[in-house]
Amino acid sequence: MKRTKFYITTPIYYVNDKPHIGHAYTTILADVLARFHRLFGADTWFLTGTDEHGQKVQRAAEQASMTPQQQADTTVVRFQELWNRLGITHDDFIRTTEARHTQVVQEILKDLYDRDEIYRAEYDGWYCVSDERFFTEKDLVEGNCPECGRGVEKVREANYFFRMGKYQEWLIQYIEQHPQFIQPDFRRNETLGFLRKPLQDLCISRPKSRLSWGIELPFDTEFVTYVWFDALVNYISAIGYRRDEARFNRLWPATYHLIGKDILTTHTVYWPIMLKAAGVAMPETIFAHGWWLSGQTKMSKSLGNVVNPMDMIDRYGVDAFRYFLMAEMSLGQDASFTPEGFEARYNSDLANDLGNLLSRVAKMIETHLGRKLPAPGELQDVDIALRDSVISAAHETIAAVERMRLDQGLAALVGAVGEANRYIEKNQPWTLAKKGDIARLQTVMYCSAEALRIISGLLYPVMPLKMAELRKTIGLPDGPPSKEQFTAWGGLIPGTETAPAPILFPKLQERKEPTTADGAKPTEKPARTFEEFKKVELRVAKVLEAERVPKSEKLLKLQVDIGGERRQIVAGIAQHHRPEDLVGTMVVVVANLAPAKLMGQESRGMLLAASDQSGALVLIRPAGEIESGATVK
Ligand code: MSP
Repeated sequence: MKRTKFYITTPIYYVNDKPHIGHAYTTILADVLARFHRLFGADTWFLTGTDEHGQKVQRAAEQASMTPQQQADTTVVRFQELWNRLGITHDDFIRTTEARHTQVVQEILKDLYDRDEIYRAEYDGWYCVSDERFFTEKDLVEGNCPECGRGVEKVREANYFFRMGKYQEWLIQYIEQHPQFIQPDFRRNETLGFLRKPLQDLCISRPKSRLSWGIELPFDTEFVTYVWFDALVNYISAIGYRRDEARFNRLWPATYHLIGKDILTTHTVYWPIMLKAAGVAMPETIFAHGWWLSGQTKMSKSLGNVVNPMDMIDRYGVDAFRYFLMAEMSLGQDASFTPEGFEARYNSDLANDLGNLLSRVAKMIETHLGRKLPAPGELQDVDIALRDSVISAAHETIAAVERMRLDQGLAALVGAVGEANRYIEKNQPWTLAKKGDIARLQTVMYCSAEALRIISGLLYPVMPLKMAELRKTIGLPDGPPSKEQFTAWGGLIPGTETAPAPILFPKLQERKEPTTADGAKPTEKPARTFEEFKKVELRVAKVLEAERVPKSEKLLKLQVDIGGERRQIVAGIAQHHRPEDLVGTMVVVVANLAPAKLMGQESRGMLLAASDQSGALVLIRPAGEIESGATVK
C-alpha cells in the first residue's frame, strides 16, 4: 500500500533532565520512518517537542534553583542540540509552554466544561508524584503505585473531572473493531485488559496550592491543568487544530503516535476519549516500543547505567549509532544495549560487509576502468542471481518498513551486501582485469555498483551521512535519493564519474577486556567463576581436511570432525603449521562460539593454541588416545 500522507509523532519529552538513549531511540525511529515515507513520496510531517509543565519539571527547577520556565528553557536546548547532531529531520518542534499550545488546551477545556464533559467534585484518593496520577484504594498494589511501585500520598481536595468512564464501552468497541489502532497486538490486549475494570473519570486539575506550574483552567483560576491532559493535546495543537483548518485536515489523523510501553494507558485510553469528547477523529495507530536495557538491567540514574547518546555519537559516530538502534531492536520488544554488542554489530555489518564492498567496487573501477561507471554487457546467470536477490531484499525492506520491522528490513539489506561480496569473490574481477577480459569486468563492476546503489538508497534513511558519502563515490547526485527506483535494476548511468572510496566505517579494535555498560574499563579484572568457565564448550576434534585460504598469509581452512559432526573452522595458523601435517591429527576446539566469517569463509569454532613472546604458536592436543567429540574439562 502506498501512503499519500504520513504524519508521525514522538512523545514530547519532559524537560526535567537531559535526554538519554530512550529519547534518542524514539526520535531516531520517527526520523527513519519519516525519511522512508518522504522517499516513497508521501506528504510527510514529523512532529516532536517537549512536555514542559507538571510536577516533575517544577521539582527539577526547585532543585536547580531556577524558575520552571528557566528549567524548561535550559533543558529544551539539550534536546534540540541532540536532535541536531543526530540529523533529525522533524518538521516542527512544539513546546507546551508556547501560546499556540496553551491557548488551544484552554479552548478545549472550556468547550468540554460548557458541554458538561468536565465537572467539579470533592476527591479522596492516592496520588503518585512520580507518575502524576491519582489512584483509588483498589488500584494500589501492596499500598504502592500500580504503575511504578513507588509510595503514594493520600490526598483530599476539590478537583475537576473529565467524564471518561462513560466512554468505556465505546472505546472497547473501537479498539476491537480497529486492530491497527493499538500496535503491536499484545499491547492492544494489554489496553483491553485494563478496560475490563470499570474506568474512572479522570482528574484533570491540580490546585495551584500544590502545583502552580501548568496551564490555568479557563473556568477556575485556582487550578492548573493536569500535565497529561495538557501534553497529549500537542499532537493536534501543533498542526493547527482550531487555528488552521486546512492544514489540520491535511495532516490529521496521525499515521503513527510512537510511544514507549510505559505510556500506553495515557495514549490508548485517555487520548482517544479526549479526542472523542472533542469530536476529533482517532489517530490511525498508536505504536508502543519496548525499553532499552543496559545489558539485562533496567537503566536508571541510581544504578548509573544510563546510556548517554552524546557519548555514543562521540565514540562511534552518528550514523553507526542510528544504525545500531534500528537494527538491534525488534519493535515492540525490549532490547539490550552493551558496548560489546554494539561493536560486534558495527564490525560485522558496517566495517566488514558494507565498508568492504564499497572499497572493493570503488578501487576496481578506479584502477581498471578509468574511474567511470562501465556499461554492462549481456547479463549471465550469476549477474541475474545477484540482481534478483538485491531486488528482493529491496522489496523486503519496503515491506518491513510498512509492518514496522526495521530490524528485518536492515537484515535483508545486510544480506544483500553479503550476496554482493560473494558475487565479487565468485567473479574475481581482479582476475578478469589481469586476463584482459574487459567486457566481462565491466558487467561485473556495473552489477556490483548497481547493487550498492539500491542498498545505499534504502539505507539512506537510517545512515544519511554515510550513505551520502557512499553514493557520491559511485557517481550518484548529492542529497537524499529522489525519484529513484529501488526495485528496478539499471539506475546507474554508464559513463558517470566515480570517486575514490572513503573508509566509511573504520574497524573498531575488538574488546579484549570486559567493560561496564558505559564502555569504561572496570577498575579490576574480575576473577571468573567456575560457572562462567563452564560456559565455554571445549571439545576434542579430528582434522579431516586442511587447506590454505586463498590470498591469506595467515589463515587455514579446516574441516574437522567433532564426535560425528563435520564442521569448518578457519584458524590463523598458516604461518606455523602446514595443512598436510594437520590432516588426521587431534586438536582442541571451542565448540560453542557464534559462527564468524574470516576472509569470506565461514568459521564455526576456534582452535586452541599457545603462543609466547618468541612468536611461536603451538597447537594444543590431547596427550593420550581419546575419541573425537570428547569434552575437555
Ligand atoms: N512527557 C511524557 C510523554 C508525553 S507524550 C504526550 C513522557 N516523557 S519522558 O521524557 O519521560 O519519556 C519519553 C519517552 O521515552 C517515553 O516513551 C518512554 O517510554 C521513553 N523511554 C524512557 N526510557 C526508555 C528506555 N530506557 N528505552 C526506551 N524508551 C524509554 O513520558
